[in-house]
Parts: sequence; C-alpha cells; structure tokens
Amino acid sequence: MNPALTEASFGPGVLRLMLGDITRVSADALVNAANEGLVGGGGVDGAVHRVGGPQIMKDLALYRARGGCPTGSAVITPGHALPVKWVIHAVGPIWRGFGTQEELLLEDAYQASCALAAEKSCAKVTFPSLSTGAYCFPVEKAAPVALRTVAGELAKGGSMKEAVFVLFDRGTLTAYARALSALK
Ligand code: APR
Repeated sequence: MNPALTEASFGPGVLRLMLGDITRVSADALVNAANEGLVGGGGVDGAVHRVGGPQIMKDLALYRARGGCPTGSAVITPGHALPVKWVIHAVGPIWRGFGTQEELLLEDAYQASCALAAEKSCAKVTFPSLSTGAYCFPVEKAAPVALRTVAGELAKGGSMKEAVFVLFDRGTLTAYARALSALK
C-alpha cells in the first residue's frame, strides 16, 4: 500500500498525487514554479535549472528580452537534461493576503500551463504546488484552486490524459489529498 498516492478520474483523464521531486519524474512536460523575471531561484526553479542544465536559462533569454513572464502566465522551453520534453515555466502569485485576487492569478497560472501543454500535444504533465513555497500562498487555499483548474482541463478531453502533482512534503500532499476528496 502506498498512502502517498491518490488519484481520481476526470472525463477521459486521470489526476494523481504523489510525494517526490518533480525533476525525477518522466513526463511530456513539467511545470516549473518560476518568477516574472525568469531568472531562476530556489525551490522547484532551482532544481529545474540544476538538473536541466544551463541551456534552459539560455533558452529563457528570448522571453526575458521580451519583458519576462507576468504573474498568471507561462512560457515554454525544451527539457534538455530533465526527463521531460518540455518545461513550462509558470508564474504563480505572491500571497499578499487578499484572497480572491491571488486565487484568480493562481488559476491563470495553471490554465496557462495547460494551454501550453495542449499546444505541444502533451499527454502526461507534472505539476508542483505553485506559489506555496517562497511565494507563501497557504496550501489549504492553493490546493483546491490547483486541482479544480487542472481537473477541469482533463475533463475537456484534450491531449492531456495524465496530470501528476509531484509534491515535496507530506503536509502538502495531505492538503492536496483532502482537496481532491472534496472535489470528487
Ligand atoms: N519537486 C517538487 N516540489 C518541490 C521541489 C521539487 N524539486 N522543490 C520544492 N518544491 C515544493 C516546495 O516545497 C513548495 O511546496 O514546491 C512548492 C512550491 O515552492 P517554490 O518552488 O518555492 O515555488 P513558489 O512558491 O511558486 O515560489 C516561486 O521561488 O525559487 C523561487 O524562482 C522562484 O521566485 C520564484 C519563487
């Protein structure tokens, strides 16, 4: 029995939750928790650039030259040394305590990620818990937004057939598992 794995079907797709390091899970695309400047950082972003190699930062230069990536949007690069074809660099909101405003921007970040995954016909996409690390979004508020947005995309029956939330710690996994049960 693996208590760290939870899953549910949405239309023709499946949504899974697992504990782990997103840079170690094979997929067509992984979603990175980036910042507006696309300049790298710690957390997921640090791991993505460390494992993916320096070419990802070079690929991002094109987008940096165009002004970066506003909160709630995403850009895409190849995965290079990562076990994925594509990296979708999404920018979640910094939590400032307003609530709805940040929730809408978080939804936008997941939506933009799913749109880029669809453009590249990705079937399996891995997601981190955007905004709940350095950006301080409370995980119990972020999890329902993340799951309902991605579940909604799966239910539409596009190219994405498997969405996997790769969560780094047990507290985050518990919050997502609770939100997934509430969604079903
Ligand atoms: N795999 C999966 N999840 C991870 C990993 C990893 N390798 N590393 C960290 N996490 C988890 C964190 O524990 C947290 O639960 O991902 C979640 C998001 O945390 P952050 O990576 O800090 O992302 P975020 O809150 O969106 O902040 C983005 O942080 O590092 C900077 O450049 C980044 O400025 C941006 C900001």
